Amino acid sequence: MADKQAELTVGGENFDFPTLKGSCGPDVIDIRKLYGKTDRFTFDPGYKSTASCESALTFIDGQEGVLLHRGYPIGQLAENSSFMEVAYLLLNGELPSQDEYADFTNTITYHTMLHDQMRQFYQGFRRDAHPMAIMCGVVGALSSFYHDSTDISDPEHRKISSHRLIAKMPTIAAWAYKYAVGQPFMQPDNSLSYTGNFLRMTFGVPAEEYEVVPAVEKAMDRIFILHADHEQNASTSTVRLAGSSGANPFACISAGIACLWGPAHGGANEAALNMLREIGTPDRIPHYIERAKDKNDPFRLMGFGHRVYKNYDPRATVMQKTVREVFDALKVNDPVFETALKLEEMALNDPYFQEKKLFPNVDFYSGVILSAIGFPTTMFTALFALARTVGWVAQWNEMISDPGQVIGRPRQLYTGPTQRDYVPLDKR
Ligand code: CMC
Repeated sequence: MADKQAELTVGGENFDFPTLKGSCGPDVIDIRKLYGKTDRFTFDPGYKSTASCESALTFIDGQEGVLLHRGYPIGQLAENSSFMEVAYLLLNGELPSQDEYADFTNTITYHTMLHDQMRQFYQGFRRDAHPMAIMCGVVGALSSFYHDSTDISDPEHRKISSHRLIAKMPTIAAWAYKYAVGQPFMQPDNSLSYTGNFLRMTFGVPAEEYEVVPAVEKAMDRIFILHADHEQNASTSTVRLAGSSGANPFACISAGIACLWGPAHGGANEAALNMLREIGTPDRIPHYIERAKDKNDPFRLMGFGHRVYKNYDPRATVMQKTVREVFDALKVNDPVFETALKLEEMALNDPYFQEKKLFPNVDFYSGVILSAIGFPTTMFTALFALARTVGWVAQWNEMISDPGQVIGRPRQLYTGPTQRDYVPLDKR
């Protein structure tokens, strides 16, 4: 909604730009006509002050530590909802009725199998391939199997592709794990929940029955909820940018997985647990805190700080509680949790972290839980990708359905050589 005007003076001349108001959060200055009017671009590497799109999915108030999906606080969803319900909510805008919920879970359940030829893809990867390398490749390859649903202008095609992606991701991730440990791939079992099925495909073997531990299933489902969407983060923006050219959704989600892999984004939970294990015992924490504060040392406290949250990440609060539940259910007592709690306490009392508003983020505790459940660190980011597929798909759908959607094409501040004439090789 256009509200008041923002004034900008360029070269002594005044220009007016409309200010748009969202339902919450800061107003935005609509600069779409800036270049045409002023012959100037804006400069915002890292997009720290740029709203790249309009979206009705997820809202974050980083100062207050608030995260809402379609208006619902993440704490309420994590406590009372299920990952399938959150997936429905993100995709459709409202919580499902009982019938809608049953229909949706049924549809997802019946899309969990992978085409049998997909096995060949797995055999092509090195035995020690990182699961994220496998995920990038296999998810991208889905577009070569589902030609029947890649017409992105057809809402029905978009819906089928979205369901396929959400449904097949647990199978793809579980098989990436199975391939690394040299165990047979497990086929999905339609009698299980989305999350129970994933646990069975990951940890079960054909030689015996696998019993899903309800507390672990609940914790895993909650972890999926906590990772389902997070507005215009790097990987989601990657999916949107890839999709803005009209690329098919499987290719776009594969691009999102590639972006998520980096240690500043989805790779941080792996890095956080590695860091906690390296620290080892609470007496070594001060040394690592000093290193994190030292500008000449590239070391950062992994799982600390966030581009948007300048307060406690609300997902970290739920994560910390979930660690205790999983430890109790599995009778685990990993000293790494004590180290994490102590590190958090010491960092939060340190003026450096206080002044820079650096708090634990979702990744600080998630690795501790995932390790207790039995996942190797290399699988952590793959689990994040599995859950975030819901958000990526919902955001991609929102973008494609927008009649005003155009290809994303940032501009630049060019600092290279000005025009010059080519010099033949024998004259150089
Ligand atoms: N440890 C020590 N110092 C830090 C940390 C940290 N974890 N994070 C930020 N800082 C400092 C940084 O050195 C800088 O100091 P100065 O102003 O003196 O140069 C200041 O705080 C601001 O940092 P920034 O890198 O400009 O902040 P950003 O908003 O661009 O970066 C971040 C956010 C997440 C990349 C960063 O906090 C970080 O690298 N954290 C560790 C990695 C991590 O946990 N990532 C997971 C993010 S949450 C998962 C997700 O949503 O994807």
